Amino acid sequence: MQLFSKKGPSGFTSSSTAEEVTQGIDGSGLTAIVTGATSGIGAETARVLALRGVHVVVGIRDIKAGGEIKEAMIRDNSKAKIDVMELDLSSLESVRNFSKQFNSCGLPLNILINNAGTMATPFKLSKDNIELQFATNHIGHFLLTNLLLDTMKQTATEHRKEGRIVNVSSRRHRFSYPEGIQFKKINEKSGYNSMSAYGQSKLANVLHTNELARRLKEEGVDITANSLHPGLIATNLFRHHSLFNGLVGLIGKYVMKNIQQGAATTCYVALHPQVKGMSGCYFADCNVAETSLQASDPDLARKLWDYSSDLVQSRFQVPKC
Ligand SMILES: NC(=O)c1ccc[n+]([C@@H]2O[C@H](COP(=O)([O-])OP(=O)(O)OC[C@H]3O[C@@H](n4cnc5c(N)ncnc54)[C@H](OP(=O)(O)O)[C@@H]3O)[C@@H](O)[C@H]2O)c1
Repeated sequence: MQLFSKKGPSGFTSSSTAEEVTQGIDGSGLTAIVTGATSGIGAETARVLALRGVHVVVGIRDIKAGGEIKEAMIRDNSKAKIDVMELDLSSLESVRNFSKQFNSCGLPLNILINNAGTMATPFKLSKDNIELQFATNHIGHFLLTNLLLDTMKQTATEHRKEGRIVNVSSRRHRFSYPEGIQFKKINEKSGYNSMSAYGQSKLANVLHTNELARRLKEEGVDITANSLHPGLIATNLFRHHSLFNGLVGLIGKYVMKNIQQGAATTCYVALHPQVKGMSGCYFADCNVAETSLQASDPDLARKLWDYSSDLVQSRFQVPKC
């Protein structure tokens, strides 16, 4: 648990919790989707948004776990408005089905939180033959965002309220392969390094955010897109990396954020009025932070967008994003 930290311009620190940074904010009337809310910071993000009155739809791949989470959240807060919908981000078909179901259910969409993630998996291809971390952490969220965008635009216009897209990246975006995104060998087993591949997918999260923010601004749409590093938090994320997992178990509670602190930046970027109008920014500890040079390269962001769009189209017959 992080105890001592310096206050940034927002007035919050690395030890602020999600409840603290959303204190006094009324989220009633808003609808948010949170991906990957079975555990860790996604579950806490969903809980705190619901506490602030937001109608939360959680997209998770284990629908049974989803039912248990819903029950637990309602036990904790009888007023919580929460729905569970099946979503496996490593499958383009599942992302498409989720979006179709959501877009046709008549709910508005004010906030999209792309939180789900996996780290340091041994080399594996997804159902669509895309390297698993790139597929889950980036491509799934890229397609999801594009397929939900019309509903978000409609909501922003009808509610006359800014929509927000929040991509949970990581400081590890700085530790990708040397060329940043390995466009020519994303799906190759040779040369695969599980931590560099994680860094690559998290770099993709920041680049995706920046290009999306640019496009939304160009279109004049009242929707922002920002990315963030939640901090270092002892969660299930480390389960595929025995060294990290061991260290987390040993010293995690002394040097890492707890889950309440880990969800703070996401909830801050999703709800706080200080963030109004900010787009294409990267946050850490509830304050604007610097990305790597690669992550702030607009040409790389455009190239990744086109690459992702082509990749999705080649695997699945969807309109070009
Ligand atoms: N913990 C940290 O120190 C840290 C640091 C920087 C960034 N982050 C980022 O924070 C986000 C949340 O991670 P966490 O630390 O809270 O880890 P976590 O407890 O392992 O949560 C990850 C969530 O993502 C879900 N998920 C994984 N693969 C999925 C898939 N194919 N489809 C749908 N959902 C999937 C998991 O669901 P299942 O239960 O079904 O596996 C789980 O709900 C991730 O994007 C991660 O990269 C975490």
